[in-house]
Amino acid sequence: MSTVRVLTGITTSGTPHLGNYVGAVRPTVRASRLPHVESFLFLADYHALIKTGEPARVQRSTLEIAATWIACGLDPAKVTFYRQSDIPEIPELTWFLTCLTGKGLLNRAHAYKAMLDRNAATGADPDDGVTAGLFMYPVLMAADILLFNAHQVPVGRDQIQHIEMARDIAASFNHQYGEHFVLPEAAVEDSVATLPGLDGRKMSKSYDNTIPLFAPREQLRKLILGIVTDSRAPGEPKETEGSALFQIYQAFATPEETAAFARAFADGIAWGDAKQALFERIDTEIAPMRATYEDLMAHPEKVEAMLQAGAAKARTVATPFTARLRHAVGLRPLQAAVETRAKADKAALPTFKQYREKDGCFYYKLADARGRVLLQSQGYASPKHCGEAIAHLKAQGWSASPALHEMAAVAEGASAAEADTALQVLREVA
Ligand code: TRP
Repeated sequence: MSTVRVLTGITTSGTPHLGNYVGAVRPTVRASRLPHVESFLFLADYHALIKTGEPARVQRSTLEIAATWIACGLDPAKVTFYRQSDIPEIPELTWFLTCLTGKGLLNRAHAYKAMLDRNAATGADPDDGVTAGLFMYPVLMAADILLFNAHQVPVGRDQIQHIEMARDIAASFNHQYGEHFVLPEAAVEDSVATLPGLDGRKMSKSYDNTIPLFAPREQLRKLILGIVTDSRAPGEPKETEGSALFQIYQAFATPEETAAFARAFADGIAWGDAKQALFERIDTEIAPMRATYEDLMAHPEKVEAMLQAGAAKARTVATPFTARLRHAVGLRPLQAAVETRAKADKAALPTFKQYREKDGCFYYKLADARGRVLLQSQGYASPKHCGEAIAHLKAQGWSASPALHEMAAVAEGASAAEADTALQVLREVA
């Protein structure tokens, strides 16, 4: 089975709440552990700047969200977990995409249209309060997705249009410059319930009805005591249908626990007791993670180190791919200069050497212009396979060819970046 690349981003403008946990964090962490899934997960802090002009809020939210994902079991060794603003290739690609995205496409974006409608309703100028950042939001998001050639993008329903726009933009680029991008698909999880908030409406920051995921234990209890209920007295049977309390319980409990809770409702459990039961059930799941969360919040340097490592990992894909995209759109070393250099001094180019060893196998070596070995292969059974591996490397670069990594290694004293550079030079003179 081939690997599916799944990518999603979280805007760093708020504090994670129980609704985010049930709707996004928990299912995404679970999915990231599946075999055959390669997950890319990032903190969308460039997107946060569209929503807020408060630096302290962006900073705090970035730490809270990163600490939340790690505390909830995201394994940075298995997934690629990074901060958007650590990847300079994202704004670079945003510009390439901006230059072939129709303004008309962006005019149709729901978020932008909603602003126009609001302004029309209040009689304001149509573009009142609309920044160019808000207008360009879908292009930045397309760059996030296309840079990593993600196949699937798990998002809420409100984001489906953005994924469709990313597909349109990818198709325009492929049409103009050749097949570079995978066309991504939105993955909307229908089975994941949206959680009601304190007032019974969907739990959302914009309704101010949230329960922070990692509120300290006592605060969590107080908040849960504040969930709206009807006025039925202890002993009176209670409806599970439409009860926010019941729905939240269900999101945390097993089917058996949920059935028992439904029986307690029918038997007239007092609201105070039901709330205490809900509190205990949630706290059982959250408490072990809360300890990790609090530790990470107290040690931002640990989180920073993880994000730096994640960015380096993400850039092993992003950097060579962007080099190819730059080349594709015509941002290249001037051809005449390259040709002169190539003609004047053939020896100044990196070289591939293919040879046969006594063991009967076929090998290759990539050496830089000075003859220093950068890559050394294992033995291939036939010269054909050896040649194919070289062709693949020349086309893709080393970092973007994980399939070859078992068959070849970066030589001692050299680095993957040097190998990529050498391969890029060969590509440019080809
Ligand atoms: N716009 C998304 C949201 O608000 C966050 C986001 C930014 C994102 N870039 C992305 C989601 C790329 C998926 C893929 O929810």
